[in-house]
Amino acid sequence: MERIEIRESAPGDLTPIEALYPEAFPNEDLLPLVTELLREPTIALSLVGIIERSPVGHVMFTTCGVAGGSEKVALLGPLAVAPARQRQGIGSALVRAGLQRLDSFGVTGVFVLGDPAYYRRLGFLPEIRIAPPYPLPAEWRGAWQSRSLSNAGLPRLGKLSVPRPWLQPALWAP
Ligand SMILES: CC(C)(COP(=O)(O)OP(=O)(O)OC[C@H]1O[C@@H](n2cnc3c(N)ncnc32)[C@H](O)[C@@H]1OP(=O)(O)O)[C@@H](O)C(=O)NCCC(=O)NCCS
Repeated sequence: MERIEIRESAPGDLTPIEALYPEAFPNEDLLPLVTELLREPTIALSLVGIIERSPVGHVMFTTCGVAGGSEKVALLGPLAVAPARQRQGIGSALVRAGLQRLDSFGVTGVFVLGDPAYYRRLGFLPEIRIAPPYPLPAEWRGAWQSRSLSNAGLPRLGKLSVPRPWLQPALWAP
């Protein structure tokens, strides 16, 4: 992999980030979610991967809670890597950098709705005790995953409570 710098995104990264999503997800419009999350810096951690001064990947983590508990947890997503730069370790490097930062902020666990074949190698396992904000169709259940960080463990039971940008059923259905 070429040398990649990973850092928090800055306002000047908005245009390249906005270009990245339609390229990485030609059949899905994630831009409204991304731009809304970027407007909420107190709840969202936004990291960009830079190669030769250009952003080539982006990931967001949103601070969430578990209904009835006081633990600080996070939701990973979206994650996008420029098509020409995929399968070079950039997505994994972005996720690992985010997990490290969240760990240092006292976050206890991270949730994701995504391909288990991809997220398993990053330490995620199917999540069955904490429910997603909306019920998932049967074929998506294995896609709901979590991993603990080094802080005290994940709550035992409950439902993930997400902030407003994520309260859209369409984000949780095929
Ligand atoms: C999915 C994505 C974020 C992964 O980032 P990346 O930098 O390409 O991935 P990495 O280089 O870290 O990891 C590569 C490994 O992950 C696996 N992988 C890559 N994309 C995958 C995918 N969509 N599904 C399952 N596994 C995938 C491959 O096995 C690959 O390993 P290999 O090349 O040795 O076979 C990126 O490919 C992307 O933006 N894709 C388009 C959008 C998308 O499909 N998103 C779905 C996930 S939310």
